[in-house]
Amino acid sequence: MSVKSEVLGLLEANRDKSLSGQELAERLGVTRAAVWKAVNVLKKEGYHIQAVNNRGYCLTEDNDVLSAEGIRLNLNEAYKNNEILVCKCVDSTNQEVKRRALDGAGQGLVVLAEEQTAGKGRRGRSFYSPPGAGIYMSALFRPTTERAKDVVLITTAASVAVCRAIRNVLGEEPEIKWVNDVYLRGKKICGILTEAVSDFESGRIDTVVVGIGINYHIAEEDVPEELRDIVGSVCTGESSIPRNTLVAAVVNELFDLYDGLSEKGFMEDYRRWSNVLGKEVRFSSGEGWEYGFAVDIDEDGGLVVRKEDGSEQTLRTGEITLRVV
Ligand code: BTN
Repeated sequence: MSVKSEVLGLLEANRDKSLSGQELAERLGVTRAAVWKAVNVLKKEGYHIQAVNNRGYCLTEDNDVLSAEGIRLNLNEAYKNNEILVCKCVDSTNQEVKRRALDGAGQGLVVLAEEQTAGKGRRGRSFYSPPGAGIYMSALFRPTTERAKDVVLITTAASVAVCRAIRNVLGEEPEIKWVNDVYLRGKKICGILTEAVSDFESGRIDTVVVGIGINYHIAEEDVPEELRDIVGSVCTGESSIPRNTLVAAVVNELFDLYDGLSEKGFMEDYRRWSNVLGKEVRFSSGEGWEYGFAVDIDEDGGLVVRKEDGSEQTLRTGEITLRVV
């Protein structure tokens, strides 16, 4: 590990407290000059580090730079050794994970970016990913043959993971709009795009990439006017909760849920947070609108709708457009 990374790890673990150059140097077994050099590089990278005379260096509470060190601090023991990669700018974190998967990266890799230049949304849409304003992250799963049948539930599980993380970190109750959009205070704050790659020879899915995009601090005036009623942001105004904390909570929940996918225990939370269950909905697969009541979400994540003639239809695909009436 580099001196810079070790200095950052110690400053993250002691946020808002001052650590003297001498103390940092002793704890890391390096010279004070090496510490000074590392701090200067970190400052240039945008970290808010105060150098207080006679007291040392302090990573201030308002620092909100994504870093592997800051995320790792709050990861459960089981995931402390996951490979976490933070990029300043990539085309799409999903693409970056797929490239690394081709090069042999293993399950547990998480790639984040401060900015995406070609962020991807569902149905071929783009995902607006301005610098520093969101959490753009993708996680790599390598399902074994026995687990291949469970992976269809991974997007559903990911939306529950985001909701659990939001509840635990922010103490607020989110909602899920079927299939997997997460809402907070009535507006969409998170979208999820899962992509799978199968092995050409065996036809078996060997790579699953779960991409999660969270609007973290996007000011209302920065959201295009036509989307202002729909698109929200986790933080309104200044937040003292760093994005690293929420990322770690999502990673913990996501990988925990993956381990228990086949038991489907998380479906209970999914139903509880659903904002369509019990509501009148209209839905379309492209040929006009149909109306009904959302009466259930089945064990495979399908939305059961009771139509006006009393018949029931289970909506299974995200290709269906759904509106609450
Ligand atoms: C949607 O709401 O349509 C899904 C949006 C998913 C966006 C995330 S951001 C991180 C990851 N990388 C991407 O290019 N897309 C996903």
